[in-house]
Amino acid sequence: MAADPTPNPHATAEEVQAAYADPKLANVLYHDWEAGTYDEKWSISYDERCITYATGRFKAAAGDVGPYENAMELGSGTGFFLLNLMQGGVIKKGHVTDLSPGMVEVALRNGRALGLDVDGRVADAEGIPYEDESFDLVVGHAVLHHIPDVPAAMREVRRVLKPGGRFVFAGEPTKVGDKYARGLGRATWWLATNATKFGPLQAWRKPQEELDESSRAAALEAVVDLHTFDPSDLEDVCRSAGLVDVRATTEEFAAALFGWPVRTFEAAVPREKLGFGWAMFAYRTWQRLTWLDERVFAKVLPREVFYNVLVTGRKPG
Ligand SMILES: C[S@@+](CC[C@H](N)C(=O)[O-])C[C@H]1O[C@@H](n2cnc3c(N)ncnc32)[C@H](O)[C@@H]1O
Repeated sequence: MAADPTPNPHATAEEVQAAYADPKLANVLYHDWEAGTYDEKWSISYDERCITYATGRFKAAAGDVGPYENAMELGSGTGFFLLNLMQGGVIKKGHVTDLSPGMVEVALRNGRALGLDVDGRVADAEGIPYEDESFDLVVGHAVLHHIPDVPAAMREVRRVLKPGGRFVFAGEPTKVGDKYARGLGRATWWLATNATKFGPLQAWRKPQEELDESSRAAALEAVVDLHTFDPSDLEDVCRSAGLVDVRATTEEFAAALFGWPVRTFEAAVPREKLGFGWAMFAYRTWQRLTWLDERVFAKVLPREVFYNVLVTGRKPG
């Protein structure tokens, strides 16, 4: 097997230009560039908070928490889902994979720092470089919407699963959820970056070059975000790949209406302006709204209006 390619966190202007017409190149450049700061940007940690979140998503999708002997993650990024599932006891032996060499490097470093039994490879989900019937479990978080040919990826998932093996994908945007999340994000960005042009609020303005860099990143982000999902269509894609016991669930409505403006606001103003008090306010409010989503909105609203879709199923046998 060829050695993994080297991360490229400083793409040239020509490479960035080419990436606008090539979603896979865009994914590699964008995520190699983000890898070193990704955990900080998305408040990813490997402690109780994210272990509870990851195992909670797994249980919401699969209905069980394992343990699974040998598992692989597609589009692992820095390892948020798989490493926290390993720490939560859902997975014993783990393999991280990602299209971005920079992400694989950081995920392996995180795994080693946590003392976990994990290895990894650079891998395209449309052609997974592992033998047939290798894994008891394949997982992914926020990855399907980046893959050009999702049906091909699901056929690959079926191929590398052992008979009876399970797959769980979580954190995918629904068609409806993506509309309001993006709308709220754009409005918050506009408000925050314009209000901070004036008077005392200027102290809350980020340096212009940082704002410009965020805008350039957002432009590339539009190239890497390829799909949004209707839960029933996603189930059909999995069934067409020969997978069985397929079930999609959705979550986060009020929590997403709150969370997207908050995350955008945090990206638009200097980090040092928002202290620990703000972080606790944001986290506690998000927790309360999640409770409301689970206890109230999940019972009265159609599943299509929630922001996140999770899907699970098995390989026959
Ligand atoms: C939004 S990030 C999510 C990372 C991580 N799963 C998480 O939840 O923090 C999406 C990841 O999918 C990877 N990716 C994009 N296209 C891919 C593909 N075709 N095959 C494998 N990974 C891919 C990206 O490089 C990126 O690391």
